[in-house]
Amino acid sequence: MRKNIVAGNWKMNNDLPQTEALIADLLKQNQTSRAEVMIAPTAVNLFQAFHNTINSNIEVVAQNMHFAENGAYTGEVSASMLKSVGINTVILGHSERRAYFNETDELLAKKVDTALKNDMRVIFCFGEELSDRKAGNEEKVVGNQIKNALFHLNASAFKNIVLAYEPVWAIGTGETASPEQAQDMHKFIRQTLNTKYSEQVSQDMSILYGGSVKPANAKEIFGKPDVDGGLIGGAALNAEDFYAIINAF
Ligand code: PGA
Repeated sequence: MRKNIVAGNWKMNNDLPQTEALIADLLKQNQTSRAEVMIAPTAVNLFQAFHNTINSNIEVVAQNMHFAENGAYTGEVSASMLKSVGINTVILGHSERRAYFNETDELLAKKVDTALKNDMRVIFCFGEELSDRKAGNEEKVVGNQIKNALFHLNASAFKNIVLAYEPVWAIGTGETASPEQAQDMHKFIRQTLNTKYSEQVSQDMSILYGGSVKPANAKEIFGKPDVDGGLIGGAALNAEDFYAIINAF
């Protein structure tokens, strides 16, 4: 079943005291919508964040993980390590991982496989660059990102996948895709899933929009029929703003 989800991607922000303070602030907020709420602190603070949210409806998720089960990968974090500290969902394919850490569709396909094999849920991110959109290639680029990383999977695997469309030109820039641009792309994504898999897979898929979502624009974006939630960066670092977005549903 399609769910409304609002996930806060904290990126490389908040040390341990700041993480605990922000969680304490989040726990004081009032949720009036039924959206699922997730936060993604940095890996080093996941253990504590999990403990501090244990009696709440906030799910703590990871921002990244390695594709290998374990081994000589200095500095990396595995699926089983995440699971052992209570983390069952991982964000994969964020544009910052693609751009600064050379993550390719091929590598992401392996990470997706490892996460699913470990019974984790994946929030799979993708989105076009400004140059792609200017050239009118946004659907082609997004279609390829989805096909290359996910279309080797069986239909049943999509139960554990959430998609996050994040146009690179809208991330952290203050420039949001218009609600119509988001809707058009989400509809295209659903059609792509329908063509490859089935109406059922496409209708059950939760597709989040990410890129400069703020309290002021969330309602309009979430009001579109194919937008099921948001992946929030900057505005997720403030508890009141984050809950204003969650309550925009
Ligand atoms: P932003 O980030 O909300 O700060 O644009 C979104 C994201 O990177 O997920």
